[in-house]
Amino acid sequence: MTPPVLLYGQPPPALFREPEGAVQVSPLDPGGVDLAETPEVAFASALILAPPGRLEREWVLARTLQLLPPGARIIALAPNDRGGSRIAPALRAFGCEVTDEPRRRQRICRTLRPAHPVGLDIALEAGGPRLDPRLGLWTQPGVFSWDRPDPGTALLLGAAPALRGRGADLGCGIGVLALHALESPEVSTIELWDLDRRAIACARRNVADARASFHHGDVRRMAQGGGDLDFVIMNPPFHDGGREDRALGAAFISVAARRLGPGGVCWLTANRHLPYEATLAEAFSSVRLRAETGGFKVYEAIR
Ligand SMILES: C[S@@+](CC[C@H](N)C(=O)[O-])C[C@H]1O[C@@H](n2cnc3c(N)ncnc32)[C@H](O)[C@@H]1O
Repeated sequence: MTPPVLLYGQPPPALFREPEGAVQVSPLDPGGVDLAETPEVAFASALILAPPGRLEREWVLARTLQLLPPGARIIALAPNDRGGSRIAPALRAFGCEVTDEPRRRQRICRTLRPAHPVGLDIALEAGGPRLDPRLGLWTQPGVFSWDRPDPGTALLLGAAPALRGRGADLGCGIGVLALHALESPEVSTIELWDLDRRAIACARRNVADARASFHHGDVRRMAQGGGDLDFVIMNPPFHDGGREDRALGAAFISVAARRLGPGGVCWLTANRHLPYEATLAEAFSSVRLRAETGGFKVYEAIR
């Protein structure tokens, strides 16, 4: 059997078709394989849409070099404005000979896995999960607001009262909002949902509470429940693949409304410019602005 191709993300189809038998290893693909845990399987080659953050990108490149045999072909690309020009220097620092081709506003780098790559451990350490002393939480480069408190989340933490009953933190990140909710002894359960496998792994470590359950999945495709929750707390995403996508936040609001029973409450924080009011008004019986400062707003919406 031919060994599989390691595929990270979805390179533009105009440049690369998905290789046959590829194994998806992006942490943003709930159906994919965990690149951090993948045993030393024999991948034949790799096709990588490199992520934008430096530490995250170098972790992916280093982990790929660790998993591939000497001589294996690696193609890594990224848009010019999302770290494309940083791929070749990173690969060269690992001891690779690289060609770096600009095409369709992307940089496409090609290399063969050297016999003895260097510096992998340093990159794996720098881009791996860590307990951040400033946050007092487990985090990892690449997850949302991984190295500093998010101001929108902070505003919600200050505004939301003690919650009660069964709840969910939709797009939980490393679990900051769920931790706040669980300070209330009246909370019986909370589901933590996120599309990012790394965020869920950090949340598991941060939220060590038997009332919490963890779900690596796309909130928009959530099949669970209907009218079964008492509260939702969330800072919904509004970026998909690096581009602003307002429909994403609106979809989160619709899912929250579907999951909440009558009288259930949704606490939501958002950037001030995001027009969620109409979606909230449509899905909830009462919507109140509870805080607004520094470019962020917090709503309490009752089902
Ligand atoms: C603005 S962040 C909020 C994170 C965390 N709740 C906080 O307040 O710090 C939004 C989160 O939603 C996640 N996310 C993005 N799209 C998603 C989707 N379709 N389904 C589930 N989670 C998603 C992101 O990975 C990110 O962790």
